[in-house]
Amino acid sequence: MKLSVTLAKTPKPKPDETKLGFGTKFTDHMFNMDYAPDKGWHNPRIEPYAPIGMDPATMVLHYGQGVFEGLKAYRTAAGRIQLFRPQDNLRRLNRSNDILCIPRIDESFGLEALKELIKVEKDWVPRVPETSLYIRPTIVATDPFLGVRASHTYRFFIILCPVGAYYPEGFNPVKILVEKEHVRAVPGGTGEAKTLGNYAASLLAGQKAHDAGFTQVLWLDGVERKYIEEVGSMNIFFVIDGEVITPALQGSILPGITRDSVLQLGRMWGLKVAERRIGIDEVLQAGENGKLQEVFGSGTAAVVSPVGLIQYGDRQVTVGNGQVGALAKRFYTAITDIQYGRAADPKGWIVPVA
Ligand SMILES: Cc1ncc(COP(=O)(O)O)c(C=O)c1O
Repeated sequence: MKLSVTLAKTPKPKPDETKLGFGTKFTDHMFNMDYAPDKGWHNPRIEPYAPIGMDPATMVLHYGQGVFEGLKAYRTAAGRIQLFRPQDNLRRLNRSNDILCIPRIDESFGLEALKELIKVEKDWVPRVPETSLYIRPTIVATDPFLGVRASHTYRFFIILCPVGAYYPEGFNPVKILVEKEHVRAVPGGTGEAKTLGNYAASLLAGQKAHDAGFTQVLWLDGVERKYIEEVGSMNIFFVIDGEVITPALQGSILPGITRDSVLQLGRMWGLKVAERRIGIDEVLQAGENGKLQEVFGSGTAAVVSPVGLIQYGDRQVTVGNGQVGALAKRFYTAITDIQYGRAADPKGWIVPVA
C-alpha cells in the first residue's frame, strides 16, 4: 500500500514546552486509512489534522464499536526520536479488533505509517526533560446505520499530542479507594480490549472516589468482588514480604505493556516475581502485619504511580512508610532511562524513528 502525504499549508504555533499538560494540544497532521469490505484497508494517508465529518447515525456513536491505543515517542539528549515497544501496541490493537469484530490491520504497515507520521511531525516531539509525544491510534465503526451488528466500514486514524512531564513536582504517593459496588470488567466481557465502553463504564466509580478525596479506584473482580484487577486505568503491583506480585491476566484485565516491562525487568534483576490472583484481604492483612512494602500502578502515561494508602470500607492501610518505595523508583528510573536513551536497551524495546 502506498502512503500519501499532504502537508498542512499553515502549521500551528508550537506550545510552550515547559507548560504542556496532557491531551489538549494536537500536532499539524494525522494519519487516516479506511476499510470497506470490497477494498479491505485502503487509502492510507498523512494529511492535515482536521475534524472527522460524521453522519449522526455513524455506528461508533451509538454502539461504541471502537478501539484505541496509547504510546509515546521520546526525544533523547542527542536529539534522536524513538518509540518504546510500538509493535506490542499494534499487536494489542489487533487483539482489541478481534474482540470488537473489527478487521485486523497489517501491523508492520501500521508501524511504518506511524514512523512516517512522526517523521513529518518531528519538530513536535518536545525537548524539555521528561516530556514526550503521546500517540493515539484509534479505529472506529463508520457505517451510518442504526441496529446492532458489526459495521462494514471503518476509519483508522492516528493523532499525536505533545505532553508534559507526568511528575513535574516529583513522585507523590496517591490514596486509592477499593470499589465495592461497581466493576470495570467481567470475565467473558471486553476488559482485556482497549475499547471505548470500558472507559465509560469506569467513570461513575472514578467520580465517586474523587468526590471522597481519593485519586484512583482500585477495581476488584466482577464475580466475587474479592480479587484485585487494576487501579484506575493502570495495572497494579504489590510488594509483599519481598515478592513483586501483579494480578494474572485472565480476560478482564488490560495486558499493559508497562506491566510486562516491569515483569521482565524484575525477572532480569533476579527479584521474586509472581503473576497470580491476589485478594484484597491478603493485601489488607499484609498492610496490618507491616508486610505491605509497596503498591504501584503501571501504565504508559505515568510509567509507575506509587500508592500510599488503601481504603476498603472502613479499613485503611498505609503502604510501607507512606513514602515512595525503592522498587517503584527503580522500575520508574530503569524504564524511563531506556525510553529516553539514557541507558542501554537490554530487551530490544526501542524502535528508532529519526
Ligand atoms: C485499563 C488500562 N489498564 C492498564 C493500562 C496500562 O497499559 P500500558 O502499560 O500498555 O499503557 C492502560 C493504559 O493503556 C489502561 O487503559
